[in-house]
Amino acid sequence: MSERTKLVAGNWKMNLTATQAAATLETFAKAVSSRSDVDIVVCPSYLAIPKVRELLRSRPIHLGAQDVFWEDSGAFTGKVSAAMLADAGVDYCIVGHSETRGRFGKVETPASTLGYFAESDETVNLKIGRLLYHGINPILCVGETLAEREQGVTDAVIEAQIRAGLAGFDASELYFSAIAYEPVWAIGTGQTCEPAEASRICGLIRNSLASLLDEDVADQVRILYGGSVKATNSADLFHQPDIDGGLIGGASLDPQEFARIVMSAG
Ligand code: 13P
Repeated sequence: MSERTKLVAGNWKMNLTATQAAATLETFAKAVSSRSDVDIVVCPSYLAIPKVRELLRSRPIHLGAQDVFWEDSGAFTGKVSAAMLADAGVDYCIVGHSETRGRFGKVETPASTLGYFAESDETVNLKIGRLLYHGINPILCVGETLAEREQGVTDAVIEAQIRAGLAGFDASELYFSAIAYEPVWAIGTGQTCEPAEASRICGLIRNSLASLLDEDVADQVRILYGGSVKATNSADLFHQPDIDGGLIGGASLDPQEFARIVMSAG
């Protein structure tokens, strides 16, 4: 088994204006300047990307986006393409987040507007294809809802999302991709998945990669855990055998807390 470098990514979601993102990043970058053995990614909103890019030029922190559309250009009002992200200097992009799939842990959104988010495994697959074409590393999110866990279908849901999301790609295309296991019930709820169970699912994802693609890519791809990660539980999670880092939401908005999470990954 190869020694995989840990990867910790902050998903700022629809938070922080460009000005706030810049201030957060400055504080965070200073606090993590001594951590050279962890790959760090920040995923600001589209509008904050240029400003964050400018600040990251001299720093070993990667720039990520939160979503992408699967066509390069055209009449797709409001969408942003992988070509545009590549031009803006983006290295990573989240795909298939449960929020863009319309699968929220706690729903305050009226059912009538949920369809707006409804991303499918098929669109996830198209987006990954476009990102790879433009040299951007996808971070594919998978995860079960509470109802699916209670019905005992967690493993089947995860395997199906992996199979459909990665359908048609060659192992050699996916070496620098990452996969994030984000149980929907753990996102923004304060309810973290037990580290041993999170590691079991990450191991299941690795086995799926080995059987769908090959052993080499399964050994190489970083498999992250996301869902209510905080500085108080991150070390426990990151030191599990099959967890290679984390995708951090709420806690990544506090630069000192996010830095403590990154420091715990070494
Ligand atoms: P929280 O860390 O806020 O639970 O969010 C996790 C997440 O959705 C990261 O993509």
